[in-house]
Amino acid sequence: MDIITSVSEMQQRMLTARQAGKLISFVPTMGYLHQGHLSLLEEGRKRGDLLVLSIFVNPTQFGQGEDFEDYPRDLEKDSELARQVGVDIIFAPTASGMYPNGYSTYVDVEKITENLCGASRPGHFRGVSTVVSKLFNIVQPHVALFGAKDFQQLAVIRRMTLDMNMPVEIVGMPIFREVDGLAMSSRNVYLSPSEREQALVLSRSIAAARELVAAGESDSATILAKLTQMITEQPAARIDYVQICHQLSLEDQDQIDEDSVLLLAVFVGKTRLIDNGFLQVRHD
Ligand code: PAF
Repeated sequence: MDIITSVSEMQQRMLTARQAGKLISFVPTMGYLHQGHLSLLEEGRKRGDLLVLSIFVNPTQFGQGEDFEDYPRDLEKDSELARQVGVDIIFAPTASGMYPNGYSTYVDVEKITENLCGASRPGHFRGVSTVVSKLFNIVQPHVALFGAKDFQQLAVIRRMTLDMNMPVEIVGMPIFREVDGLAMSSRNVYLSPSEREQALVLSRSIAAARELVAAGESDSATILAKLTQMITEQPAARIDYVQICHQLSLEDQDQIDEDSVLLLAVFVGKTRLIDNGFLQVRHD
């Protein structure tokens, strides 16, 4: 397994691999790998001859006062885990390599970035779509895998890839959860034991909403009112948003149907956690 930090060396290496007919699969991450990332890498391993993992804590997707500086980093441990799942190349560029002096170009996906995390983290998706397009140009993957925990991010990347005619297949992978239901996230390390316990309210909210829907409730406002009450009962929890949206447009829905997704962003202490789930049993 090689670790490459230079953008030009990486691009050259991938051009050569493409010319040699290699099928390239790619998992972009910000590192501090957990089981969720490993499940993407395992799937990526099956889908390509050459498996590339990028590790880059991308400054342009963090807003003022967010956790860019504190974001957990451990390249040594990540490299060990990557080796175990059969990664061929880790691409770990520097911020100045990705955004050299004079850098001026950004990718902005409209509409589906207006709601949810787009509303509460202005500029976040501009940073994500910019870095992902740069990574696609450097790595030149045939297939790229993303986790469904970042539901809106996955939708934004699908939209961008389609709109910009990027020749990359986007694969969304299911949320990976701890046994007690907490969605895996690199940010879970920030939680104190009591916050870790209270953080279960996110996955419990999804379960509660599904139960209400299964029992015949179809009014979003009624469901959201119950969830809001459930969440605010946790002393360390503060709701950023709890919404029910159409899975494709990401617009709010008043009535539940098979395209309805519940999306939550909740601060538990200082840690902002997100989670989501479809509300009806789906057969696709
Ligand atoms: O999901 C993430 O870890 C990041 O947003 C991504 C896609 C690697 C872009 O920096």
